Amino acid sequence: MEYKHFISKRAEALKPSSTINLADTVRDMQARGLEVIRMETGEPDFATPKPIVQSAIKALESGMTKYTMSSGIPELKSAIIKKVWTKNSIPARAKNIIVTPGAKQGLFYAFAVILNEGDEVLIPNPSWGSFKSIVGLVGGSPVEYLCPSNKDFRIDFDDLEQKISHKTKAILVNYPNNPTGQTLSLSELKRLSQIATKYNLLVISDESYEELVYDNITHVSLASLPGMAERTISVFSFSKSFAMTGWRLGYVVAPEELVAKMVILQQQTATCPVSFVQRAGVTAFKCESDVARMVKEYQERRDLMLEGLKQCGIPCVKPRGSFYLFPNIQRFKLDSFQFAKFLLEKTLISVVPGSTFGSEGEGHVRMHFALSKEILRKVIGKLKIALKELG
Ligand SMILES: Cc1ncc(COP(=O)(O)O)c(C=O)c1O
Repeated sequence: MEYKHFISKRAEALKPSSTINLADTVRDMQARGLEVIRMETGEPDFATPKPIVQSAIKALESGMTKYTMSSGIPELKSAIIKKVWTKNSIPARAKNIIVTPGAKQGLFYAFAVILNEGDEVLIPNPSWGSFKSIVGLVGGSPVEYLCPSNKDFRIDFDDLEQKISHKTKAILVNYPNNPTGQTLSLSELKRLSQIATKYNLLVISDESYEELVYDNITHVSLASLPGMAERTISVFSFSKSFAMTGWRLGYVVAPEELVAKMVILQQQTATCPVSFVQRAGVTAFKCESDVARMVKEYQERRDLMLEGLKQCGIPCVKPRGSFYLFPNIQRFKLDSFQFAKFLLEKTLISVVPGSTFGSEGEGHVRMHFALSKEILRKVIGKLKIALKELG
């Protein structure tokens, strides 16, 4: 049977996630018995803290197996309110919150409720690929603004302002950043809020990596700045903070009118996030010492990798957050795809070509450091040998 006719233009236009695609190739190699060190998919290697697992089991055993309110269980929403007031300084009430099956779904709801066909969203270059895909899926047009490599991937505000048109509805920011590990300074946050206010734009702030910040940096939420809560859609995730990627849990904090529409969208699609996972989410907020333990370990791993890259003569902007390194591989005279292929074939280390994150990512590769120090030392050893071949 011929299916082309049955596939919608939207589905046809949707590109597979480049990192997930790569992961499939690597899995294929693993199935053939090859021992690949996987540095491409961004996922904590830690087990989900025990109290979280136990509370999910307890919830299941107590019969928490039914649908819940579409916006999330009141117990979790209360815990989120407390958390965002104290940790993020965002003045939120229950009507400002929707619990979602992961931040990705939250982003989808956010874009779906604000965008009409052709509305533009400013998206950083480089950036995580799903932003553009989701904007396109709901009929919006992604327009890139530069976070250039020669400015350590910080926002080029002049470029950002130039890209604003009468069709622009929102600016997307993602800090701590995937793929660069950059964070935003307070003065940059202020500049961003001035621009959003001047042009009456919404800001979608993906703060999925908020807990993973290093060097005693404090993560500041854009919505905490004066006047910004009313124009910011803040997207949060349990995935990276609590090593809960497979649980699929996140939440969005936004103006009441927008959340109300997102709740209807969730009602009509997912119905609600998984019931017992929501109960586990309440426990997650009590696991501060587990988070601190993981963050300390990530920072040590980052430092280990930075030193190793330096020894290999590979420059890399010091990531202040997330668990990604985005080293500059330009001196090897290979493009980022060729370099990633070379590494995979020569060393069985899989990384993501930087160009998959946008043109500013070319000349770089993304590698995560959510791996044990023992494995990271092995990576450095392998890099030192293999890169000699490239000169
Ligand atoms: C920037 C960014 N936002 C959102 C997500 C997805 O988070 P979740 O697992 O909560 O859907 C990821 C996952 O890699 C990410 O890198």
